[in-house]
Amino acid sequence: MQTKVVSKISKEAKQCLISFVSINSKGSVTSSSADKAVSALLKKYVDAEEFKGELGEALILREVSIEDANNLLLVGLGKSKGLDQERLRRATAFAYRALRKEKQKAASVDLDSLKILKDKLSEKAYVISESVELTNYKYTQFLSEATQHQVSLEFVASKAADKKQLETGVKQGEAMASGVNFARTVSDAPSNYMTPAQLAKDTQKAAKGSKLKVTVWDLPRIKKEKLGALIGVAQGSENDPRVIIMEYNGAAKSKTPIALVGKGLTFDTGGISIKPSMNMEAMKYDMCGGANTIGTMLAIAKLGLKVNVIAYVGAVENMPDGKAINPGDILTSRSGKTIEVINTDAEGRLVMSDLITLATEKKPASLFTMATLTGAVIVALGHLHTGIFSFNQKLIDKIKKSADEVGEDVWQLPVTDQHVKQMKSSPYADLSNMGVPMRAAGSAQAAAFLTQFVENEVPYAHFDIASQMSDMGGIYPYHPDKGACGAMVRTWVEYIRKA
Ligand code: BES
Ligand code: ZN
Ligand code: ZN
Repeated sequence: MQTKVVSKISKEAKQCLISFVSINSKGSVTSSSADKAVSALLKKYVDAEEFKGELGEALILREVSIEDANNLLLVGLGKSKGLDQERLRRATAFAYRALRKEKQKAASVDLDSLKILKDKLSEKAYVISESVELTNYKYTQFLSEATQHQVSLEFVASKAADKKQLETGVKQGEAMASGVNFARTVSDAPSNYMTPAQLAKDTQKAAKGSKLKVTVWDLPRIKKEKLGALIGVAQGSENDPRVIIMEYNGAAKSKTPIALVGKGLTFDTGGISIKPSMNMEAMKYDMCGGANTIGTMLAIAKLGLKVNVIAYVGAVENMPDGKAINPGDILTSRSGKTIEVINTDAEGRLVMSDLITLATEKKPASLFTMATLTGAVIVALGHLHTGIFSFNQKLIDKIKKSADEVGEDVWQLPVTDQHVKQMKSSPYADLSNMGVPMRAAGSAQAAAFLTQFVENEVPYAHFDIASQMSDMGGIYPYHPDKGACGAMVRTWVEYIRKA
């Protein structure tokens, strides 16, 4: 809990006043603080061209004595035109990073005089507290000494009504960030610790005391349920797989749920089609789709949304072994469809196919899948976007809107009947797990493969987050420079909130 609502600022937070600065249409800068002394100081630094008010700037001024504060932090918001949630979120992250670097213990911000986001106090508090919690994250489980310096931020509430609004906002920010940070924590954990069983345990622990119902299937149950494609991937590992099912009923029982599916490969060596060793350590992040799915469910429960949602996460390790599947092997999925495994490294789609079948058996209102599915999506989009795929354009448009709302970046990539055809090219089985002989458009082929398991005409969209799984602090300042991001948790929650 790094943000607090107070009626009187603590002695420590009084030490540093945060002032957000924006640039108006005429090019002049204005401070969010009502204090004249702040404006005068700002002018001085702008005139000296030491501060411009642009996004990315965060300048701490020492020994200034303003409103009893010794220090003033000037934070750039950029142009006042088009100033949205995401700009405030990023500016806050830059501010927090500066405070941390300078080892400041506490700081305060007057949200009353910050005139943005239609001046909604709760929204301002939500965005800032979410950003602070996200920026504050560090994975420290295996460090003998936790080195991260923490800063606490205080919002001053002058009236009782303001206090309530601010507290609502802070609570929302914390709920959202705790879902994202859970996802990051389990993803950052190394694979010798974060086994499929451990992920199931951590999920159960995190859901304790909430309205979430968590069911975990072990290997005997998975066999009983005939998840033949998932078992095929899992059989090369000493660590048995788990299927984690999370149910949340916040609306009337009669309301059809939304279904979510996540790829939770706690490690992907590639299996017998083994990956090169360079950068293979990043494959501990191959569980990000599953982790972010769990994070979404935790956030939804914390926010108490009035929706029904069911999520399936396939926690599996892909290893080469005497018992592992070989290229050319044929698996029978739960759906009854057979799959020729051309490449054991295209394992995510195998795991997910059975979960998609499970999900669509429930006839959900819509189905989303999330996975670090293909290296090809990184080639297509770099790290700037998550690739989204659907035959349903309306669904894509709604997803884009939700992503926009929370400041995440998605980009639609094609999935067509042609791609589906390429996945049906095996002479021996109904489907193959790789486009043969054409391997091009790998992300679209993978998405096309997944669509073959969607039954009952369920509106369906797939998110390939391989491009945004980790190390994105350089793009989004509230993400860690190194480590998992928890991408798309906020987009999913936003979509579901409105559904
Ligand atoms: N987990 C990988 C995809 C991946 C690669 C995620 C790099 C993040 C960073 C996935 O299981 C995989 O290996 N896919 C193959 C598919 C191919 C064999 C058809 C790929 O992308 O090369
Ligand atoms: Zn793989
Ligand atoms: Zn994988």
